[in-house]
Amino acid sequence: MSITTKPNYRSAYHFSPQQNWMNDPNGLVYFEGEYHLFFQHHPAGMTMGDMHWGHAVSRDLIHWEELPIALAPDELGMIFSGSAVVDWNNTTGFFGDKPGLVAIFTHHLDMPEGQPAIQRQSLAYSKDKGRSWTKYEGNPVITHETFIDFRDPKVFWHEETSRWVMIVACGQTVCLYHSPDLIHWTFASEFGEGIGSHDGVWECPDLFRLAVDGNPSDTKWVMLVSIGADPAFAEGSRTQYFTGDFDGSTFTPDQASRNIRWIDAGRDNYAGVSWSDIPQEDGRRLFIGWMSNWKYAGQTPTEGFRGAMTIPRELYLEAREGTAALVQKPARELDAARVPLISLNNVSAAEMNAACAGFQLDAYEIEAVLSRGTSAGFKVRTGAQHQTLTGIDAQAGELYVDRKASGRTDFHEVFPGRHSAKLLEPGTTIDLRIYVDRTSVEAFSNGGQAVISDLIFPGPDDNGLAAFAGNEDDLFLSVNIYRLSSLDAGGGRR
Ligand code: FRU
Repeated sequence: MSITTKPNYRSAYHFSPQQNWMNDPNGLVYFEGEYHLFFQHHPAGMTMGDMHWGHAVSRDLIHWEELPIALAPDELGMIFSGSAVVDWNNTTGFFGDKPGLVAIFTHHLDMPEGQPAIQRQSLAYSKDKGRSWTKYEGNPVITHETFIDFRDPKVFWHEETSRWVMIVACGQTVCLYHSPDLIHWTFASEFGEGIGSHDGVWECPDLFRLAVDGNPSDTKWVMLVSIGADPAFAEGSRTQYFTGDFDGSTFTPDQASRNIRWIDAGRDNYAGVSWSDIPQEDGRRLFIGWMSNWKYAGQTPTEGFRGAMTIPRELYLEAREGTAALVQKPARELDAARVPLISLNNVSAAEMNAACAGFQLDAYEIEAVLSRGTSAGFKVRTGAQHQTLTGIDAQAGELYVDRKASGRTDFHEVFPGRHSAKLLEPGTTIDLRIYVDRTSVEAFSNGGQAVISDLIFPGPDDNGLAAFAGNEDDLFLSVNIYRLSSLDAGGGRR
């Protein structure tokens, strides 16, 4: 079959900018009913360039309204990644009796040929729910004498010490600072030497506490650290995590953190961080990542815009094989976008294929349960020449996504490939949850302990769906398929 129309690479239910380049999520904060998603944005180009903070808001984590640019470069440089918080008690003095938003970001100043760029931490604040921003006149608020890479501050309020804490990337470590007012910062400690992956520069850290197995009296601190792409490693940029204790000044890693642990075994979940100020009665630790990889981010074949975020996810810690493992579950808000298509129990792959033979789908969710020991899965976005495989290899004990024949793969040599995630302590049944969109597959298994997020670029006719299994009599214990209603059909974007 020949490709007659252009592929539509605009995600149906993932956030992507209306125009031009996007990378990291920034300033994730919830305030007065809105989730804010700021993002690294080059408003005049299709590759990374003159970086601004773009801005979008949502009330349900699905429908995003893109707003005008929030922060633009100035004499201190471009606006690199950072975070945002609600200053509930006017610790900054920027606000009167009403709380407001403070953005804490890196100013990146390019210097003349031969001299390294200068990276410093700065503030901006908003009194109108993020619609307009004033840069703090005393910027920058933190400078460093020696670090060339000194960026991506993530700030949170530390209850026990009643002060703000900042975690910021410093070359191949992270530095921790604290402050009473977000303006005056005191260096507290540095973490990272001799531990974790150093296959690239450290970027976009985050630090937060989670209960293990939901037990409020058993908590651990989780540190996320993204590492940049290095030509020596085909994996490109990825995000690792550590678990341990944090006393407001120093992070002490636990034994399990001696092993390198990645949050995602796919290639396209980078620079992800969590939302600040989620109300206590909600209590979730919500996360979103940039769904791309510095290895090839500037070459992906979209037109008019480039970059999308992952689906929003909730983070948990679960005890697995004697350690506290980071677990990601799709945010429950996504369930509201479901349009049920089929729901089957105890079906073979052949029966499944008969049931979905006529399907032409580009944006959907599959929920399946297999017996432990069954190797099976789905071919998604299939066409005459293309398919993406995602399933369970029971022998290897892993979840995998194979995008070698997924569509356009020729824009970078490392793009085609098969990626797998080990299932830690799987139960007697194995769950599989697969989110498919116009340019992505996000697969979750073993309750969200194994995760693979991968971009794909299928053709416009590659809308078929099929099941497969190792043996003819292998059964899918249950399968639900939902179309996910598209944001571009109505509302959501201006
Ligand atoms: C991570 C990153 C950050 C930096 C930003 C620049 O992807 O390199 O370290 O602040 O992107 O756009």
